[in-house]
Amino acid sequence: MERTFVMVKPDGVQRGLVGEIISRLEKRGYKLIGLKMLRLTPEMAEKHYAEHRGKPFFPGLISYITSGPVVAMVWEGKNVVAAVREMMGATDPQKALPGTIRGTYGIDIGRNVVHGSDSPATAEREINLFFSPEELVTYDRNLDVWIY
Ligand code: TYD
Ligand code: MG
Repeated sequence: MERTFVMVKPDGVQRGLVGEIISRLEKRGYKLIGLKMLRLTPEMAEKHYAEHRGKPFFPGLISYITSGPVVAMVWEGKNVVAAVREMMGATDPQKALPGTIRGTYGIDIGRNVVHGSDSPATAEREINLFFSPEELVTYDRNLDVWIY
């Protein structure tokens, strides 16, 4: 099954949106296989966002993402990478469709509540950055027969 990395960003944690974001993915049918709360160090943040190094928003992005605790998760399911991107909505909450997570809870691109991997290859890199293999739990769910 495909996996993706999802992170409730510091604004999402502060605003009490952790449960809401987990709930949306759970109800859709995706399976939670890893979860932890942590505060990113600048080094880890720069690794996570390495592709954006040198861009004008990079310093602000690093200080925002390290400004408080985040909730890091791994979710599993069919086509989960693209599905989570759709459920999050556009990067800029002003452009995110109503009903998406960012389009429902966000206003500013610099405080967009949630992160989700943009491809299966990115997901693998991000999962390995945040989780060791022992921290990912594989288990059967009897309800899978009702989802697939
Ligand atoms: P990006 O990877 O382009 O977006 P996404 O999170 O949807 O994959 O950018 C990473 C984060 O950087 C984004 O969530 C918010 C921030 N950002 C800005 O603050 N300003 C910008 O112009 C862009 C493109 C991103
Ligand atoms: Mg991205």
